[in-house]
Amino acid sequence: MRNIAVIGVGYVGLVTAACFADLGNQVKAMDVSEEKIAKLRQNVMPIYEPGLAEVVDRNVSAGRLNFTTSYEEVLKNARFVFICVGTPSGVDGEADLQYVRQAAETIARTMTDPLIIINKSTVPVGTGDWVADIVRSNQPKPLSFSVVSCPEFLREGSALIDFMNPDRTVLGSLDRAAADEVAQLHLPLRAPIVVTDLRTAEMIKYASNAFLATKISFINEIANICEALGADVKEVAAGMGVDKRIGKFFLDAGVGYGGSCFPKDVSALKHMATVQGQHPQLLEAVIDINNFQRHQVLLKLQELLGQDLKGKEIGILGLAFKPNTDDMREAPAISVVRELVQAGAKVKGYDPVSMDVAKGVLNGLDYCNDPYSVASGSDAVVIMTEWNEFKNIDLQKLKDIMRQPIIIDGRNIYDPAMMKELGFHYRGFGRGYNGKSVK
Ligand SMILES: NC(=O)c1ccc[n+]([C@@H]2O[C@H](COP(=O)([O-])OP(=O)(O)OC[C@H]3O[C@@H](n4cnc5c(N)ncnc54)[C@H](O)[C@@H]3O)[C@@H](O)[C@H]2O)c1
Repeated sequence: MRNIAVIGVGYVGLVTAACFADLGNQVKAMDVSEEKIAKLRQNVMPIYEPGLAEVVDRNVSAGRLNFTTSYEEVLKNARFVFICVGTPSGVDGEADLQYVRQAAETIARTMTDPLIIINKSTVPVGTGDWVADIVRSNQPKPLSFSVVSCPEFLREGSALIDFMNPDRTVLGSLDRAAADEVAQLHLPLRAPIVVTDLRTAEMIKYASNAFLATKISFINEIANICEALGADVKEVAAGMGVDKRIGKFFLDAGVGYGGSCFPKDVSALKHMATVQGQHPQLLEAVIDINNFQRHQVLLKLQELLGQDLKGKEIGILGLAFKPNTDDMREAPAISVVRELVQAGAKVKGYDPVSMDVAKGVLNGLDYCNDPYSVASGSDAVVIMTEWNEFKNIDLQKLKDIMRQPIIIDGRNIYDPAMMKELGFHYRGFGRGYNGKSVK
């Protein structure tokens, strides 16, 4: 049992706190958001993440997990403090480190005992050293501390499973003894532990996310070529994915990646490279392809409905950037809806869990209570998120209530042949002839 403090109870911090408590540690978690902490104290989750409420409840009841808005309280008796605050995209894609700075300064002013400060937030290479400087220069009296980088690789929607079953734990520090202590904390997760220096650990996180984003943009480029040549990208991806050197994951063509990580992390890496005089042309292409995939929704609708979308009713199924989360950050649906509204279309939308969050970031569309209300009277329906609910939808009923049987499948969840048989004008991404003639 170890005493752990967690700063920031967002997607990463809350999962980190709940899971370390579940492993038998004594965990205190704090956030500057009084609203989030008040909710957590009533066992109301501030985010949607499958299974999270149960784990939080179990550990609060067992007395291993509690929540506070106070730095004094969270750091009391703590040996480890995890910084899990947001690092959003700032100017020119540069990571905005204001929250990391605030956390580091406040930790420095508040700590009363030697501490291991662990950066779990995704931060630009060199931030660990910068955090150490901030702590050193803000301590009222010198107290020993070490900074360890421990980037997080969990995916929203399966965050608890990912946290408890990581492929690896990456630890970076110039202080080997501190890294070893943090490694001990992670031993129950039974994953290989990679111990390296601070900057290399920070880079491993960016390189990993950039590689996964590249895989998505790669298959999207292949999808666009498939579409022109009459091949089916789903079968291409399946045929590629069985090759162990390639792997089957992150080869799903469609409207591209979104979320709180890939877009900002690829941009931040590109920015870091540019500042160093590099020319990150692959990263630029990854970003361009991803933006084009979103824009293709408009192009596909124009192909089927005519150039002028003014007054056309378009239904959007799925708003969150992926299933099993309510996270709307950088969701492809945001840019698609904005483009459609700008083109004069009337847009309706539905998502199984992200509607409340979506209402805060996305205006100009009518929010409906179910997929059929979205489809009713629509000239076209666009699938933006591959929720299971949409995979098993009653397509015949959907067709009967639509004004025109047009489906743009941004996640390739339906079979083109079946859609044709049902009488839909169907467009996936990279799905064979897609109804067009091939040169
Ligand atoms: N969300 C993911 O799937 C994911 C996965 C891996 C890594 N990451 C990285 O982890 C970090 C956190 O991401 P997130 O999605 O959990 O962010 P989030 O926005 O959901 O949560 C951040 C929390 O930090 C709090 N906060 C901000 N400043 C604070 C301060 N000074 N003191 C205390 N609390 C403060 C905010 O109120 C918020 O609740 C980011 O760097 C992100 O890139 C995220």
